[in-house]
Amino acid sequence: MIEQSTPVALTHFVEVADISAEQAIALLHRARLFEVEADAGITRTQPTRSVIQLLFFEDSTRTRTSFEAAARRLGCDVCLVTEKGSSAAKGETLDDTVITLLNTVDPDVVVMRHRENHSARHISQQPWNTAGIANAGDGTNEHPTQALLDALTLRGHFRDHTGDLAGLHVVIVGDIVRSRVARSNAHLLTNLGAQVTVVAPSTMLPEDIDLWPVAVASDLDVVIADADAVMALRIQHERIDTEAGLESLDYRERFGLTVERTARMKPGAVVMHPGPMNRGVEIDDAVADGPRSLIRVQVRNGVWARMAVVEALIAGRHAR
Ligand code: NCD
Repeated sequence: MIEQSTPVALTHFVEVADISAEQAIALLHRARLFEVEADAGITRTQPTRSVIQLLFFEDSTRTRTSFEAAARRLGCDVCLVTEKGSSAAKGETLDDTVITLLNTVDPDVVVMRHRENHSARHISQQPWNTAGIANAGDGTNEHPTQALLDALTLRGHFRDHTGDLAGLHVVIVGDIVRSRVARSNAHLLTNLGAQVTVVAPSTMLPEDIDLWPVAVASDLDVVIADADAVMALRIQHERIDTEAGLESLDYRERFGLTVERTARMKPGAVVMHPGPMNRGVEIDDAVADGPRSLIRVQVRNGVWARMAVVEALIAGRHAR
């Protein structure tokens, strides 16, 4: 694959399918450049300051602050609107909220998180939309920048930021059906050459799992010894209609990254989690904070990956 340090231009980044493997590698290359520059104390400025609108209709710590940090590090102005405190709380529609922001803030890029699946795609397709749309999570559908930062983390750790992810076996375990992180990662990591296995209780597997480019397993202990990386997912309590049945799953015993279970991983194999963690459920404290954990690296890489995406969307807007 071609390594390139020239910026990528994207019209929107709503789903992993919006970018080719070559574009993904180019974004990862830009992200790595931003990390190296930051370590060297180099700051970026823009002759005309681009404006980034953050529009968050669901709670967020990592994604929101890393997009904000990314935009500021690129020399952009940032405006934040959350559901609480905006007219969305008075019942204003998403369309009307975005139209208002386009007319007041006139952003180059809108970073949006919303509970409705395909809401970011919907906005990106409106004839009145003038901004590049970055999907920061739409319902249970996709979270493409999380997949990009996870790919950056794996590529940095196992491949020293060169080439693709061919030869890596990544296991994703947990609440697959409600996880936008799982869907985006399944597609991006396999596009980049990794082999992905998902592990979940049957009630946490999506009906269309046969269409995903992954292997499916039900016993974590069978696959964990072969994994280079195991990514635990948060149980999405806020998206579960009834919690009945969760306790009967013995979740931690069967699917948790416990100290005993991770001790059977290959030397050098790593654990990941997109956060926020249910400590003691999906992952034990000693694993989350232990030597195999890349969780803090993932958080840091979120800044560099999102710088690459924001830069690409600004370039895409200027190219229109
Ligand atoms: C994820 C999300 O919101 O989809 N968090 C994140 O962005 N790092 C995962 C989660 O909430 O479980």
